[in-house]
Amino acid sequence: MLKGKTAVVTGASRGIGEAIARKFASLGANIAVIYAGNNAAAEKVCKDCQESYGVKAVSYQCDVSDFDIVKQTVASIKADFGTVHILVNNAGITRDGLCAMMKEDDFSSVVDTNLKGAFNFIRHCSGMFLKNREGSIINIASVVGLTGNAGQSNYAASKAGLIGLTKSVAKELASRGIRCNAIAPGFIKTDMTEAQADNPLLAAVPLGRMGEVSDIAEAAAYLATANYVTGEVLRVDGGIAM
Ligand code: NAI
Repeated sequence: MLKGKTAVVTGASRGIGEAIARKFASLGANIAVIYAGNNAAAEKVCKDCQESYGVKAVSYQCDVSDFDIVKQTVASIKADFGTVHILVNNAGITRDGLCAMMKEDDFSSVVDTNLKGAFNFIRHCSGMFLKNREGSIINIASVVGLTGNAGQSNYAASKAGLIGLTKSVAKELASRGIRCNAIAPGFIKTDMTEAQADNPLLAAVPLGRMGEVSDIAEAAAYLATANYVTGEVLRVDGGIAM
């Protein structure tokens, strides 16, 4: 289904990003695995994708929040793969705390990673998408970007911003055949939510369980190929934000 396509996935050495990279590889896509620091984990994802699915997979260490480093990384990806067809902005962090007491750096680092990081990759990949007159951008937002969440004003603001970015980019690039969508996950079992297993909010999930990374990977695979869908925010949240 994605044979011959190249996908860039940020934060792909673990969690949701890793699941998306593996899913896309299983569908035949070549993968650029963007990681922050864990080279061994990123290399393992690449090796597994190559061996299991016969696709090309290369890892790139890159701080998504750094405009110039992202520019250099995208240039390396272009040199290695020729072009990019799919971009998944998944890298994200939390620095939870009440807004009234939040340190400036806890606000800016979350916005710089989650929101500006996505802008950086969209900005530097757009030239290839425009040249190809084809592209699918998928931004991993969060249900808290739709609803807000006490203790996560920085994170919710970054994810709400990502939704605004998604819709604006979708409008700007639609006429060139480039689509941009967001996924808003609810509670998904990963390292990020390790401490959430007994969060009382979980009882409010209509489907009665945390999500799996595969639930998000399947949604990403859908959006990668849903040729008449753009500017959408797809909740994959067990119904918690309906
Ligand atoms: P995770 O913490 O397991 O993975 C996040 C990845 O992003 C890590 O590999 C990390 O190294 C990478 N990363 C962080 N900062 C980076 C930077 N500056 N440059 C490059 N890479 C960086 O988290 P998880 O759960 O897999 O989350 C993935 C995405 O899904 C995040 O954007 C998160 O906000 C979002 N999300 C997760 C939910 C959940 O319940 N797990 C719910 C809603 C959204």
